Amino acid sequence: MKYFKNAEIVFGWGAIQHVQNLGCRRAAILTDKRSMGRLGFVERLVSLLGESGADSDVIISIEREPTTEDIDAGAAELSKFNPDWIIALGGGAVIDSAKAMWVLYEHPTLTKEQLFVPFAVPRLRRKARLTAIPSTSGTGSETSCAAVFVEPKDRTKRLILSFEIIPDVAILDPEIPTTMPPQVTASSGMDALSHALESYVYALSNDFSEAVAVQATRLILENLEKAYRDGKDKIAREKMHYAATLAGIAINNSGTGLAHAMDHIGPRFGIPHGVACAILLPYVMEFNLGSEVARRKYADLAKILGLNGGEEKELALSLIEAVRELEATLQLPQSIKEAGVAEEDFFASLDLMVQHSHQNVSARLSPRPPTPLEVRELYLRAYHGQQLKS
Ligand SMILES: [Fe+2]
Repeated sequence: MKYFKNAEIVFGWGAIQHVQNLGCRRAAILTDKRSMGRLGFVERLVSLLGESGADSDVIISIEREPTTEDIDAGAAELSKFNPDWIIALGGGAVIDSAKAMWVLYEHPTLTKEQLFVPFAVPRLRRKARLTAIPSTSGTGSETSCAAVFVEPKDRTKRLILSFEIIPDVAILDPEIPTTMPPQVTASSGMDALSHALESYVYALSNDFSEAVAVQATRLILENLEKAYRDGKDKIAREKMHYAATLAGIAINNSGTGLAHAMDHIGPRFGIPHGVACAILLPYVMEFNLGSEVARRKYADLAKILGLNGGEEKELALSLIEAVRELEATLQLPQSIKEAGVAEEDFFASLDLMVQHSHQNVSARLSPRPPTPLEVRELYLRAYHGQQLKS
């Protein structure tokens, strides 16, 4: 038996008003005050909640990538405020933090180690529910069962995985991401494209996840460059915002893949997650051509998207080419070296990155599960920018 899970989605210009329909008594707002406050969205949210008769306050401002050490302090603040709704207004870091703090608010005796055991979070919603209002178009956290943290002592990624932490409501108001600068538009958009393309060929993909992955890919290929070039292009912004959530739904009901499993270059070398995915994705897709299933699926998708090519491999390669062309247009680095990682730093971390990537479930359930040696070769190709010779 399988399930298709996602948050209730409320979308459209002005959708932020939906907070008035939540029926909140006390709403704890978690946000990035520096950007969301400056842009006036926090004030608007507080005023909308006030009009509906709810008490609300900004309980925590999250202004950097969340680490495992930040979770306890946030949960303690929530306990003091005692909300019946938690509203996360911000990017992936804010929404992921809200998920973790929510778990510890509901279960204060849970240890950090228990929190990171996959699918072991106890039942939530005895004290509060969660609404996510994303301010970027990329992570899909507003509808996903995952929250990512960095372990400060060794810069490794820690993941909370649980269907319990899927937000109750995701409010997609395209006005909010309209303020994203071009580099964030590019990297978050490539994160979303990686979600769509990785989930599409993942071992757990299914008819439902593939349908949303196809639409997400189409919307991103049609709109990301436009949103990057002109942040005020309303249609492109709106479509990108929905595409990111569709891609989030796709990974939620399938999974990510080897590019995500190999994103140790982000936490280790300070490369934003979306840029890391953008660098790794085409190399991983080339590697996946060795899987009959992935090759056929890439070719099918290339046909749906109207890309050129006759034979299956030619079509699949045209999809990979479309990804590379988009990255070049967005002026993203096409190799780890180009992203500014020095050779000695890269090689000093390589063994550990290979080991962690190979052990990751997203690698094991990839269409072509790699050996440690193959992961190493992929890292080397991605470092030096060596494309597959077709
Ligand atoms: Fe991602």
